[in-house]
Amino acid sequence: MYTPNLRLIDLEPKADDFLGDVEKGLNSASKYLSPKYCYDQIGSKYFDDICQANDYYLTRVERSIMKQIEMIKLDTAKPVAVVELGGASSTKFRELLKHLSHVQMYMPIDISRELLFSEAEALAKDLPDLQVKAVCADYQQLAQFPWQEHLTGMTPLLFFPGSTLGNLSMEDTHALLKICKAIVSDDGYMLLGADLLKDEQILVNAYSDSDRANERFNLNVLHRINRELEGNINVDQFRHDVRFNRAEKKIDINLVSLIDQTIQISGKDYHLKKDEPIYAESSRKFERSDIETLTSTHGLQPTEWWTDARDYYAVILLKSVPI
Ligand code: AVI
Repeated sequence: MYTPNLRLIDLEPKADDFLGDVEKGLNSASKYLSPKYCYDQIGSKYFDDICQANDYYLTRVERSIMKQIEMIKLDTAKPVAVVELGGASSTKFRELLKHLSHVQMYMPIDISRELLFSEAEALAKDLPDLQVKAVCADYQQLAQFPWQEHLTGMTPLLFFPGSTLGNLSMEDTHALLKICKAIVSDDGYMLLGADLLKDEQILVNAYSDSDRANERFNLNVLHRINRELEGNINVDQFRHDVRFNRAEKKIDINLVSLIDQTIQISGKDYHLKKDEPIYAESSRKFERSDIETLTSTHGLQPTEWWTDARDYYAVILLKSVPI
């Protein structure tokens, strides 16, 4: 059935080269596997389990902060267009909508086409007065996208919840913030979720939770290699290792080989020594000053902070200012 307030924009992001990336990572002097490969159907289910785990406070605390915000006041007379990075699921947007007025358009952006488009369609049907434009794209493609064409006459509010910014390297963080600035132009806003620096044990526990949801999630990449790339990895011969890197204010997650072993993937051998790590993922934790320095470099100035009583997590409103 035709949904007049819905537009699906498919930039056809290039499919991942799973085998090529695995070969590159395991042939490197310090072995690594990209965390994006943890998120197949099974891994996404494990990630949902992480979000429910007692020790993993991020999702819960962000949600509670969002609920406590009364109204997000934007200094504009124009209608608002919410652009959400990683917005395949519309759950967080539906909550955000309760705290904003004059929202005319919603543009979720994600690489997971099926989920993105089906959620966008459901949302457009539920809210016929809202224009929904879903964009299937990877981050690189966003730099070239004609944002101003889509956002004319509206004030953009870029929504980036979940502290996903913390999973990017410093280089990618700057590249993404540059794109954020291009999206909001010189008079828009950004609403950012960020996990704050806190007691080391609380951080370590969040990523090595007692339900072992994180462990299943990160080890899933090895199972996925077995499933999809003719791997023969005995996953029981790896340990999920979580450490806090104080100097860089980040959690580092590695999959550590318990023995000297040779694994085979698509007919090729890879040797691992006992205790050798495969780097899996990092999750950076922020101090207020880190956010201020990072964002203001890109012309995005924090104007309002919402936190929980323990100061575990922050939702920050940033205003775009000329650089
Ligand atoms: C998506 N992101 C914010 C999660 C985090 O907390 O860094 C990813 C994650 N990986 C393992 N557990 C959670």
